[in-house]
Amino acid sequence: MAELADYAIQSRDLNLWYGDFQALFDVNLAIRRGIITAMIGPSGCGKSTFLRSVNRITERLGYVRTTGSIDVLGQDITAEVVELTQVRKHVGMVFQRPNPLPLSIRKNILFAYDLHHAERPSAAQRDEIVEKALRQVLLWDQVKDDLDGKATTLSLEAQQKLCIARLLPVKPTVLLMDEPCSALDPEATAAVEELIWDLRGEYTILIVTHNMAQARRASDECIFMLMGKVLEHSETAEMFVNPAKKETADYIEGRYG
Ligand SMILES: Nc1ncnc2c1ncn2[C@@H]1O[C@H](COP(=O)(O)OP(=O)(O)O)[C@@H](O)[C@H]1O
Ligand SMILES: [Mg+2]
Repeated sequence: MAELADYAIQSRDLNLWYGDFQALFDVNLAIRRGIITAMIGPSGCGKSTFLRSVNRITERLGYVRTTGSIDVLGQDITAEVVELTQVRKHVGMVFQRPNPLPLSIRKNILFAYDLHHAERPSAAQRDEIVEKALRQVLLWDQVKDDLDGKATTLSLEAQQKLCIARLLPVKPTVLLMDEPCSALDPEATAAVEELIWDLRGEYTILIVTHNMAQARRASDECIFMLMGKVLEHSETAEMFVNPAKKETADYIEGRYG
């Protein structure tokens, strides 16, 4: 049995309703620290809803109601006393479509950092933060001469790498990635996937993907969801070779839409 502290995210009996529609049913998930966990399942099964709950994005919607709890690093983030900025310091999220701010590359990297740090570092330190983050996502060489250029004019691949890079200076523990490669072509997908794989160990990564090859290749554990429920959570190698549920096998083999 793993110790409690081995889990970065732990949800208990999580239920979520959008108005009258229930999107999550008694979701009990324990996501291990320092590994990559893939989340798979047909469209509409609640994958994004779960990720958005961990990052507390769903709470913005007035018609969302939840029961149960979600611990991040042992702290219940659904508790009213926990401030959103505290959650976001530990949990970074990457979305399906790259969403850089309509600012320069440099400002994109420093934006979240500045939000979370009251003290302004020196100009030299700021340059260092920018360079380090861009190097980590293998973007430095491409953009180093154009750091004041607009982020939104970059290729989609570079934009998505930038969206990953801007999370890193905040030093989050958990990176949530919701189909981060779905807007990219195969070559860009391969590049971004490789990057995500390199972040393994340093971060706890929970990644939603529709790409079974990606899930199989790039994750340590895998969660299969169906209609708002977790059907199976096991080691990836195990799930793909010997799924516990018939539904999982059907999905992996492409028998769902
Ligand atoms: N903002 C929303 N308002 C109402 N219903 C939503 C909203 N977001 C998602 N849903 C519904 O919740 C269910 C789960 O959606 P989602 O979490 O986006 O699934 P997935 O990411 O697995 O495709 C779907 O039936 C979807 O239509
Ligand atoms: Mg989704």
